[in-house]
Amino acid sequence: MKKRDTIIIIVVSCILSYLTIKLQFVPTTFVFTSPAHAFDFEKGQELFKANCSACHANGRNAIVPEKTLEEEVLKVNGMKKVESITYQVTNGKNAMPAFGGRLTTENIEDIANYVIIQSREGW
Ligand code: HEC
Repeated sequence: MKKRDTIIIIVVSCILSYLTIKLQFVPTTFVFTSPAHAFDFEKGQELFKANCSACHANGRNAIVPEKTLEEEVLKVNGMKKVESITYQVTNGKNAMPAFGGRLTTENIEDIANYVIIQSREGW
């Protein structure tokens, strides 16, 4: 085998293992955000604490106890999607206030991604 071939094999396997590692850690929800806006986990966390934790501390729900932010519950209620959470946070629902006038869409998408990741990893 030529030296050049060996180098190519090494480079390709490095790229493949890099991708394997990277794909494990990139949240799948990332795909749903627009390319112009890479989701910011820390911002989502900060905004969640400031705006949501009064009612949703630790992923629970202080007002309607069964509507938690736990993964299984979100799934059953069709809420385990960035789009659904963004919609509900923007427009509100029943006793949940609307945040559309107070937060930007970008902020709300950061929160939605944060909620989905937390639900998956456990609050
Ligand atoms: C004043 C209390 C309150 C605040 C603040 C609040 N929520 Fe809620 N949230 C609720 C209530 C009540 C529901 C249940 C609504 C319904 O379906 O009747 C709910 C439902 C949800 C659901 C759906 C849960 C499910 O299992 O179906 C999500 C997701 C959610 N809230 C996210 C958020 C996020 C993100 C924020 C912050 C931007 C937030 N909420 C702020 C009260 C609140």
